[in-house]
Amino acid sequence: MASKSNSSVTVSLNNTNKSVDLPVLSGTLGPDVIDIRSLYSSTDMFTFDPGYGATGSCMSGLTFIDGDEGVLLHRGYPIEQLAEKSTFLEVAYLLLNGELPNTEQNDEFTHAITNHTMVHEQISTFFRGFRRDAHPMAILCGVTGALSAFYHDNIDHYDETSRMISCRRLIAKMPTLAAMAYKYSIGQPFNYPQNKLGYAENFLHMCFSVPTEIYEIDPVVADAMDKILILHADHEQNASTSTVRLAGSSGANPFACIAAGIASLWGPAHGGANEAVLNMLNEIGTKDNIKTFVDKAKDKNDPFRLFGFGHRVYKNYDPRAQVMRKSCHEVLNKMGVSDPLLEVAMEMEEIALKDPYFIEKKLYPNVDFYSGIILKAMGFPTSMFTVLFAVARTVGWISQWKEMVEDTSQRIGRPRQLYTGPATRDYIDITKR
Ligand code: CMC
Repeated sequence: MASKSNSSVTVSLNNTNKSVDLPVLSGTLGPDVIDIRSLYSSTDMFTFDPGYGATGSCMSGLTFIDGDEGVLLHRGYPIEQLAEKSTFLEVAYLLLNGELPNTEQNDEFTHAITNHTMVHEQISTFFRGFRRDAHPMAILCGVTGALSAFYHDNIDHYDETSRMISCRRLIAKMPTLAAMAYKYSIGQPFNYPQNKLGYAENFLHMCFSVPTEIYEIDPVVADAMDKILILHADHEQNASTSTVRLAGSSGANPFACIAAGIASLWGPAHGGANEAVLNMLNEIGTKDNIKTFVDKAKDKNDPFRLFGFGHRVYKNYDPRAQVMRKSCHEVLNKMGVSDPLLEVAMEMEEIALKDPYFIEKKLYPNVDFYSGIILKAMGFPTSMFTVLFAVARTVGWISQWKEMVEDTSQRIGRPRQLYTGPATRDYIDITKR
């Protein structure tokens, strides 16, 4: 809960000689914020902050990031500890409910998620309306939105039980939908989920098992998948999470809100970067070409950017990238895979981290830089990378949506603008234009 600090900020408006005192609020960690809610009513002026670089849009107790120090906490727990010691479902419980589960709670939650992984049979017919060559993110976006047509029995977000059922349904069914999107795009039959398998194992089974052979799940791959899911579970008020909150602030149903989040995640500046990183590494091909690409990224007249580098909040190494980098080496070693792209990635990281352009702008590798290499080693095509991100982030989206709906001070999200169009003018008849 935020508290009102003893200080306030006085804003003086030179043009009107007016001044207004704005309270300062303190959270548990991180910088204080100036509460500008009374600014418009007392000054007739808005603030202007495109891209929201200096704007806090809500109070949230889920995730804390210190971008300068490279710190990421979920409900207070460092991401490094969660990635090493926890499981994805435990982290999901933590984000959704505020505390780590005890054994009984963990068993109940795991059982509930595991037993809701099947989707309505009619959904498979719905899939068949898509072209076979459709991008799996396009399919996932459409099918997730359609869930509200299949599970409309519990979409009253004012009802606590209804809310929890929708949250659990989304966490349980998203891997099934993601795997179906993949199977559909490669022309293989859908696999039903299996309740004896864990969350990550089940996802691998649904993606890679075929009816003609017995599929053995490699525990190294399942562990790595679980870790990837943990690292992507939530990340404060990023573009897709803010999209989910904005869509939900109007009272829209949770399935539609998550579909909006998936659409926002897809862009290459956000979740689409993992796919873009691998395409970029492929294009670079060998270490000799790295310099050309680094120079291109530094060229002001060239829109190209090094994918997997830079972050709005982190001005230090993304802590998720540190874990991912280590995991990438471990997984490739254990699987006995040697990927020349990993060599290119490591060399590129070294070159960029020594380059004055990247040092000055504090551009460090982000979570997407190494994840694609692991996913490729597991056998996923690049088009599935962002889909995997969406499976994991569903936990964060739905937890943030729930937190917002349960916040009694919540209002519909409605930013204003600085109007730059024509001033009032009279309509001109078409014959006189
Ligand atoms: N390569 C080259 N230059 C860069 C890069 C990059 N990857 N990222 C930022 N810059 C430059 C940018 O040109 C700008 O320079 P100047 O000040 O001279 O105009 C400066 O650094 C600040 O960049 P910005 O665009 O103002 O920063 P932002 O906070 O608006 O954008 C970002 C953050 C992540 C969109 C951006 O760094 C980027 O496009 N990175 C590549 C895409 C990427 O890896 N995205 C994944 C983000 S992490 C996963 C997730 O959360 O989705």
